[in-house]
Parts: sequence; C-alpha cells; structure tokens
Amino acid sequence: MGRIAYVNGLYVPHSEAAVHIEDRGYQFGDGVYEVLAVYRGQLIDEQGHIDRLNRSLTELEMDWPVKPRVFSVLMREVVRRNRLDEGIIYIQVTRGVAPREHTFPEGVAPALVMTTTAKKIGQLIGGKPTQVITMPDERWARPDIKTVCLLPNCIARQRAKEKGCYEAWQVDRNGFITEGGMSNAWIVNADGELVTRDINENAILNGITRIAVIELAREAGIKLVERAFSVEEAKSAREAFVTSTTSFVKPVVKIDDTAIGDGKPGPLSQKLGILISERLEAAVSGGK
Ligand code: PDD
Repeated sequence: MGRIAYVNGLYVPHSEAAVHIEDRGYQFGDGVYEVLAVYRGQLIDEQGHIDRLNRSLTELEMDWPVKPRVFSVLMREVVRRNRLDEGIIYIQVTRGVAPREHTFPEGVAPALVMTTTAKKIGQLIGGKPTQVITMPDERWARPDIKTVCLLPNCIARQRAKEKGCYEAWQVDRNGFITEGGMSNAWIVNADGELVTRDINENAILNGITRIAVIELAREAGIKLVERAFSVEEAKSAREAFVTSTTSFVKPVVKIDDTAIGDGKPGPLSQKLGILISERLEAAVSGGK
C-alpha cells in the first residue's frame, strides 16, 4: 500500500487514514469505486474510468465529490506523493456520512478516498495461465454498476482460491456465464470466434480492459461476438481468458475439471496479451 492516502480533502499517512463509522459505504455498502493502472507514473485509460465512475454515480443518484477536472488533479497528486511508478490507484466514493437511515440523506457531501499500491503491472501482461471454477451468480441485478457491495464477489473468489483457482466464473439462471468475481470472461469457441458477454442486460461490468480488447480485436480483424455463452460452450472452447485492470489478458487453461484446448495458453489469448502490452507502452510514450 502507498504511504499517503487521500481522504476527504486531506493527504494523510496511510496508517492514520480513516473514515467515520457512519460513512454509508461502511454501513450500507452505499458507494462506488474504480481501480486504475499506473504505468511509468501515468494513469492508464483515465477517461474511460472517469466516464464509468460518472455512470455509476448517476445510476445511484450520487453527486461527484469534486468536479471531474479536480478529480483528475487529485489522482495525479496521489500518484506523485506516493512516487508511484507502477501499480494501481484505488478510488472510492460513498454517499457520505449520515445517521443510519436507509433512505438517501439530504445535503450530505459524498466522501472520497484514494490509495495506491505498487505492483509490477508490465510483468502481468501475458501473465501466467490460470484456472477458473464456475458457480451460480448470486449478485444483485445491477453488476453493471461498480459498487463497493462486493460480498458475493468476495465469496466467489474465496471459493476459487480454495480450489487453487484465480477466478470464479459466475453463471446466470439460464446457464450462461456472466463474468468473474473481478474480471470479464472470454472464450475462443470451437468455431474460432472470440466471444464475451454483451452488456445489453446489465449482467456484467463493462470492463475498461474489455473495451480495450474489443477495440484491439476489431483493429486486428479478429472475429468477435458479444453475446452470452454457456458453461458447456466455454468448456469446449479452444481458448479462454480473463481481462481486468489488474490482470490485463490472463489465459485460462482449465474450467472446473475441464482442460481448455491443449491445456496451454492459446494463440489468440497470447496475441491479445501482446497487443494490450503494446497499447500500454504506446499510452506512456504519448501514443494514446
Ligand atoms: N475489478 N468485472 C468485475 C466484477 C470487476 O470487479 C472488474 C474489475 C472487471 C474488469 O473491469 P476493468 O477492466 O475495468 O478492470 C470486470 C477491479 C480490478 C477490482 O475490483 O479490483
């Protein structure tokens, strides 16, 4: 964890950073968040994250804690004060502090917290192959909003960890995979189509990495379909992988007890891993 946290207008040592016991994020999970990658001291996909935060806030009828322009300045300042070269910045906005009452409080300012964690982002790219389990999606009906209400996601990833897996692919009532506990799910099916769940029914979070990979796949002329896919289709896929800000493109070589393809990262997953890595380098050398 970085040494300096931003908490409601103040930069404080991380060990002393705290929020009020009646913060609605703490009591009700009434808040939203973003995780951005920082590479060579620069924020990656800043605008995409700001737009998604804006969407989350709007959907939950929450105000911006500060103007978006000031918000950008604050993120940079937190990165600078932590001398963060490579890692992530975590941002959380809650509806603020108010006596415990379910309905939204009036005239209460949203609370804003930012922290950083140093992490070798570059090394994650084309990362180690991983395994996933499948389990029922037990989240609320709006996982498209990036709220801090992550208990079902925590349970899903805990179950995955207990089986030596990185992720839990959650399955909706119709037998279709939605997404992982903290990443989007992808397959290259038996026909060679790149498939990831569509965002039409608000069944998944529209990952910023997901958006980038869609763009890269289209540019590279890869056949891509955004649609629901079943557990059976995933298990008979040639390739599978997950995407997120903290894992980029991570190949999946086993789903439950089924090996995917020949049990090794597939060529398309590897290609997309290279493309996302080139995109990252281009972003910090002024390309994007
Ligand atoms: N998780 N789906 C879920 C449920 C997620 O929590 C995340 C990100 C993603 C991928 O989104 P993005 O590409 O914008 O990171 C998909 C973050 C990293 C987290 O909770 O730490």
